[in-house]
Amino acid sequence: MQSNYGEIYRAWRSDHVAHWTEAARGVDWFEHPATVFDETLGVYGRWFPDGRGNTCHNCVDRHVEAGHGERTALIYDSPVTGRKARYSYAELLGEVNAMAAVLADHGVEKGDRVVIYMPMIPEAVFAMLASARIGAIHSVVFGGFAANELAARIEDSQAKLVVSASCGIEPNRIVAYKPLLDAAIGLSHHKPDHCLVLQRPEHEAELGEARDVDLGPALEAARGRTVPCASLAATDPLYILYTSGTTGQPKGVLRDNGGHMVALAWSMRAIYGVSPGEVFWAASDIGWVVGHSYIVYAPLLNGSATVLYEGKPVGTPDAGAFWRVVEEYKVSVLFTAPTAFRAIRKEDPEGALVKDYDLSSLRALFLAGERADPDTVQWAERVLGVPVIDHWWQTETGWTIAGNPLGLGQLPVKHGSPTVPMPGYELHVLDDAGHEVPPGTLGNIALKLPLPPGCLPTFWNADARFRAACLDEFPGYYKTADAGYVDEDGYVFIMSRTDDIINVAGHRLSTGAMEEVCASHPDVAECAVIGVADTVKGQIPAGFLVLNSGVSRESSVIEREVVGLVRDRIGPVAAFKTVICVKRLPKTRSGKILRGTMQKIADHEPWKMPATIDDPSILDEIAAALQTRGIGA
Ligand code: COA
Ligand code: AMP
Repeated sequence: MQSNYGEIYRAWRSDHVAHWTEAARGVDWFEHPATVFDETLGVYGRWFPDGRGNTCHNCVDRHVEAGHGERTALIYDSPVTGRKARYSYAELLGEVNAMAAVLADHGVEKGDRVVIYMPMIPEAVFAMLASARIGAIHSVVFGGFAANELAARIEDSQAKLVVSASCGIEPNRIVAYKPLLDAAIGLSHHKPDHCLVLQRPEHEAELGEARDVDLGPALEAARGRTVPCASLAATDPLYILYTSGTTGQPKGVLRDNGGHMVALAWSMRAIYGVSPGEVFWAASDIGWVVGHSYIVYAPLLNGSATVLYEGKPVGTPDAGAFWRVVEEYKVSVLFTAPTAFRAIRKEDPEGALVKDYDLSSLRALFLAGERADPDTVQWAERVLGVPVIDHWWQTETGWTIAGNPLGLGQLPVKHGSPTVPMPGYELHVLDDAGHEVPPGTLGNIALKLPLPPGCLPTFWNADARFRAACLDEFPGYYKTADAGYVDEDGYVFIMSRTDDIINVAGHRLSTGAMEEVCASHPDVAECAVIGVADTVKGQIPAGFLVLNSGVSRESSVIEREVVGLVRDRIGPVAAFKTVICVKRLPKTRSGKILRGTMQKIADHEPWKMPATIDDPSILDEIAAALQTRGIGA
């Protein structure tokens, strides 16, 4: 099939309004928007400002009303518990109504914030959609975070209520959520009115606090009730998703209702090429943006079936787990992070397990969340025999910035490139002074304002922080904080971050936040945390500590304590296991720690002695310390 991409991208560039007017027809509105974009509203303008609708209506009710109530909406598959379930659109509507009734009974109203701290279970999806139904703003918190991170989110969002479960299940342990939740509420100055807790048989929680409610019986009692979909302005918030920023304080990425529906519905057809009734599987977690956009909202907006998989790519039970799910549910398109494929490849280098399953339903694999290294892409192409499509985006954008739009006709693949900007995104590569650089030259990737529908209009309650973090450096542009280049053919290459964010197994983490925790140890004088290459996780953090003079305790003991601190304060997901005490940190004469050079040494990349270094011999010490720990790719 000849690709229509060029024509559609050019049409979008010449008339943004016409493009998004057409896309807006893909969803139901209670009041159709007369205005597509108003640049005078919000921080950089707002999409569909006079439109009214409801995201839950578009994800659920609309399909039932159109006579597709019997179609599968949600497939739950949990190898860690052995449970499986299927919900048709009509059944999903019943579940979401019951959850919405329970939320309303506990005082949740339009505009209230609902923190959802749950593992990958259907009730988490019901809670997201029920919030959307009422017009409450959900904020899902990933289970691998520590109480501190949960507290920061409860506090910043001023959550009225928390929906949680008694436990999450990791292959090696049961994670009791309730003690973490209680600790988080203890830490937060703001206290939610209620915590609705779903008891899971693997580990029941003690519901000792007055605010605790047993969610299971409450849902049972609410079965059969209906709660109407609130009529919301397109610009009303749908959710807040906190993501790592350059400090320990996470940024609350805000998503609206109208633009988000339009963009995600468009992306399902144009980018993923998935039709209503087909099965789409994003093997991620609802705690991340991939889970929000492509486990929950986009497939349901499209009337497709979505898979909610509570398991891992390996170990639940083996490296054939993904293929089993694809065969069992006839998955058409799979989306995951490259790290999952590196983990599978490590266990099954020849892809032998693929041959045990019928993967004939699978049309394509999409990869995102971190750079898709060409080696992994080629391996996946070889073992699966379908197009493997890298696409690049961020929590802030909510959908693809650069990709290879299967639904518009696939463009030739260049390994190492997520291909080309999607309609909606005018991408520029700028030098540090904000000037456009020639093709092939590395620079800051910036997106010309306005960002398209679906992208963040601002941070929650923090317009000034949004401007400072994303808009001020390059006036008229959104700064992606990714560095890369565009080649002569217009293909985009994403090479690294320009800030302190690292990507650990597809999870976005701030080394600055880890440094804050390391520095809080009483024996630590100063520290640096860098991301070093890892063959499975892409990157893992490594910490370097300089101890206070006079500290006589064993450095190995302090290293272990610091590892424990990061696990306790940020969470196991940080995978912070490598810490080295050194005598000094390499610095420039003005006192800036040379993290970039340390990272190159750790990754065995060529590096130059910085001209401004204070004392060159320190780098040799760092190299020796790294070598003794066998760190680096
Ligand atoms: N709740 C509680 N703890 C969690 C958790 C959750 N939802 N998810 C992960 N953790 C814990 C793990 O148990 C592990 O703890 P440990 O140090 O006690 O072993 C730690 O956090 C790190 O987990 P993870 O990053 O998952 O590493 P892993 O070594 O267990 O598995 C992969 C590695 C590659 C298999 C795994 O990261 C994976 O499946 N990645 C898929 C990619 C993905 O979903 N990316 C999201 C964006 S698309
Ligand atoms: P997150 O907000 O967690 O989705 O992380 C977004 C960041 O992950 C981006 O800014 C990139 O640094 C990185 N990233 C995501 N997808 C890709 C990709 N396809 N190629 C390169 N980097 C990516």
